[in-house]
Amino acid sequence: MAKHYDVAVIGAGAAGMMCAAVAAQRGKRVVLVDHATRLAEKIRISGGGRCNFTNVNAGWQNFVSENPHFCRSALSRYTSQDFLALVKKHHIAYHEKHRGQLFCDDSAEQIIRMLKDECDAGSVSWRMPCKVSGVEQAPEGFRIATDGDPIYASNVVVATGGLSIPKIGATDLGYRIARQFDLNVIDTRPGLVPLTFDGPSWQPFTPLAGIALEVDVETSSGKGKSAKKGYFREDLLFTHRGLSGPAILQISSYWTPGTPIRLNLLPEVDVAEELIGAKTTVKKQLGNVLAQWLPARLAEGLLLANGFTPDGRLADMADAKLRKLGDAINRWAIVPTGSEGYKKAEVTIGGVDTKELSQQTMMVNKVPGLYFIGETVDVTGWLGGYNFQWAWASGFVAGSSIA
Ligand code: FDA
Repeated sequence: MAKHYDVAVIGAGAAGMMCAAVAAQRGKRVVLVDHATRLAEKIRISGGGRCNFTNVNAGWQNFVSENPHFCRSALSRYTSQDFLALVKKHHIAYHEKHRGQLFCDDSAEQIIRMLKDECDAGSVSWRMPCKVSGVEQAPEGFRIATDGDPIYASNVVVATGGLSIPKIGATDLGYRIARQFDLNVIDTRPGLVPLTFDGPSWQPFTPLAGIALEVDVETSSGKGKSAKKGYFREDLLFTHRGLSGPAILQISSYWTPGTPIRLNLLPEVDVAEELIGAKTTVKKQLGNVLAQWLPARLAEGLLLANGFTPDGRLADMADAKLRKLGDAINRWAIVPTGSEGYKKAEVTIGGVDTKELSQQTMMVNKVPGLYFIGETVDVTGWLGGYNFQWAWASGFVAGSSIA
């Protein structure tokens, strides 16, 4: 007779391990199934190997979703302070970097070890590597089809993550299971991803690769209730293929193809105002004037891209032309050609529609015993530790409510 578990968790990543540990420590017989050969690769590579494991400011406002309020309940029941208490209990040294982001001092491996120890404390059983191909309802719960023996469980938690970085094991299994149970899945697309640009209008910017500066960036998409507006002040990085850096990764989660992003390359300077005001007193060349605020190479590139010669004298420029230059720097609107896609994206936007789930338990409303947690769900955090906090919180509420 095949063993019957109380809970089978599919996906031993951040959300899956948290959920398994919490359920098992409540006395549930839990099996954790994953097709990877190495445990929790995404945690391992996260935060440059130091894992930005949470953000002390995490709140529902830091998430992108068709229903941004859905994540409120889980985030308030399991906060960044709760996860930090676990980190402290395991004597993992950490530090705060930028805007509430907490990182391990040493290695992301410590977070993986901590979660594994928490699973061991509840005697979680492991099936790994073991590829899951499908889930179906069975007389006493669910039957999970795998590339080995099937697994039987009263409850199934789907924690298979999103589509980003397929080479380390991302699959669409979670979305397939959702559709098989007739659940709506919000269209998926890469998030926290560099944006690409091509064509002649981008040519003048290609030599700027490597330049970084703090900017304001914004975009908006959709209409009415589904309208989304993103705004960030973060660092921008010019790359060979387009734009990257935290500003672009953040805005990419709000960007939809065909729409512009708007950049203010000098948020603290009204460029047109300053240039027009300085015309009579400053005898310098335009390139040198701009270089007091911008990296010289960027100043030159921007002037060339906008039809100015860097050695033109400020005093000789008509006010209308200087206003045009000011707009190009303070209100630069450009339409990305695309993004670097799932191979570079940190996360997947979209996923299982939150309308299908209980926000208190993460259980599917119409399929008792079936749960979705973590990145598979249509809840995507900003850059900065928010995605792990969602994984921990959604894993915790599912693990603590499974009957
Ligand atoms: P996760 O992807 O962690 O786990 C899913 C598991 O399911 C995997 O172990 C996979 O092998 C398994 N699986 C998939 N299909 C399967 C199948 N068919 N059968 C069996 N198993 C299957 N976030 C953050 O907050 N701070 C950070 O520092 C970073 N850094 C970062 C860097 C990089 C390079 C990336 C790509 C991502 C990040 N993130 C991040 C995002 C973060 O890693 C991500 O949001 C969480 O890992 C999501 O946790 P989940 O448990 O939902 O999925």
